[in-house]
Amino acid sequence: MANSTETTETAPARASWSGKWGFILAAAASAVGLGNLWRFPYLAAKYGGGAFLITYIVLVVTFGFALMMAETALGRMTGQSAIGAFRSFGKKFTIIGILASAVPFIITPYYALIGGWVTKYMASYIVQPAEAIADGEFFGGFILQNAESYLWMFIFIACVVAVVAFGVKRGIERVNKVLMPALIIMAIIISIFALTLPGALDGLAYYLIPDFSKFSAELVVAAMGQMFFSLSLAMGIMITYGSYFSKKEDLEHSVRRIELFDTGIAILAGLMIIPAAVAVQGSGETVASTAGPGLMFGVLPQVFLGFGFAANIIGFLFFALVFFAALTSCISLFETLVSIVDDATNKGRKFAIMVCTVFLVIVATIVNLGYNELLSIDLMYSVFGIGEYQDSQLLDFFDFLSNTIMMPIVALLTCIFVGWIIKPKTLISEVKQSSKFTGEKLFVVMIKYIAPVFVVVILVAYVMNTAGIINL
Ligand code: ALA
Repeated sequence: MANSTETTETAPARASWSGKWGFILAAAASAVGLGNLWRFPYLAAKYGGGAFLITYIVLVVTFGFALMMAETALGRMTGQSAIGAFRSFGKKFTIIGILASAVPFIITPYYALIGGWVTKYMASYIVQPAEAIADGEFFGGFILQNAESYLWMFIFIACVVAVVAFGVKRGIERVNKVLMPALIIMAIIISIFALTLPGALDGLAYYLIPDFSKFSAELVVAAMGQMFFSLSLAMGIMITYGSYFSKKEDLEHSVRRIELFDTGIAILAGLMIIPAAVAVQGSGETVASTAGPGLMFGVLPQVFLGFGFAANIIGFLFFALVFFAALTSCISLFETLVSIVDDATNKGRKFAIMVCTVFLVIVATIVNLGYNELLSIDLMYSVFGIGEYQDSQLLDFFDFLSNTIMMPIVALLTCIFVGWIIKPKTLISEVKQSSKFTGEKLFVVMIKYIAPVFVVVILVAYVMNTAGIINL
């Protein structure tokens, strides 16, 4: 690992990563999280396995690559987080930064709630028999039970705030250096275990062999939202992280490594969960019709029972893995909030951490109320009128609002801004300050033409499909 602590020319007082690998590990740890381990498998299961997987991979290496290059280069060039980065090209562009910054303010609270569920499961495998955790009532009983679900959520939030309070280098990097390799090793071990279950190979075929009859506008919108969420794009994170990145390091190489880490772990998470879910539930179709946010918490504990005496150990290892991944991602979300508030108020990092902690505690509590006192409120249905989401919770509302609406809009605006306003060459010369840019042509074509047209077409098709005007 390089041992530089230099700051960027444009942001002399800004903290920085220790070299390229400090940045890669921190950004990969931001990317790898509940998106890969909790969200990706249930979307892949829901949208027909292989068809979703292939769509997702194509999106990551094209659109995802171009957008991550744009965001990290914007951050490094300006030395600012999202709002400041866009504003530095003219006051009227501040709005794009504000929209991008609004996304982590929506995601972090529900992320912390799920982080709390994961913490509860990890702890439960230490103190309770695996049979009790696999009981069908366990998950529902816990999330609907006021006091305990708040307690675990606050424990998770306390862990996040503690790491961020130690500062960019001391806190985040120290944790990441150990956790990322551990995460990959644990994921491989559990995937191999899961594939030995009777019936798991049918699940493997469901997951890996694309069935293009399952292809739909909804699948593509889901894959696109998942790509933004999982790669930490269209939410200001990669701009902030790029702003900590030294001008001497190779940006493109780093971006490719981050994508590889993130997509590799998502594919591994699918291998851990989907074949096993098919083994437990009998067929891919059954898994598809029941898959949702509860897939990991409901099905996997049943899967772990198949490991006999080792069920508690496997269960604990799995949820420890998810806990660490969720923690590092939530750290990056929270770090982004802190950086935005810090840049906006200029009252120092301590003040920003305090403000963001209060915000997180209050809003996460409201999201949690969605499973308790506010259970009867169904914003998804009443605001968007989407029947499929009837009986959804506040969490579903926040997830839909951020992933399906705001992130595509932010991504679209970012593409237009880079492709047509400041022009790709501005960021290309930023990238070329430190290295060659082998994906330059792909970057230009994606940012200027393909990505913006794709977002518009797919969102229009999705809305028309949902409204019953077309049938895709
Ligand atoms: N990118 C982060 C995740 O996948 C938010 O969890």
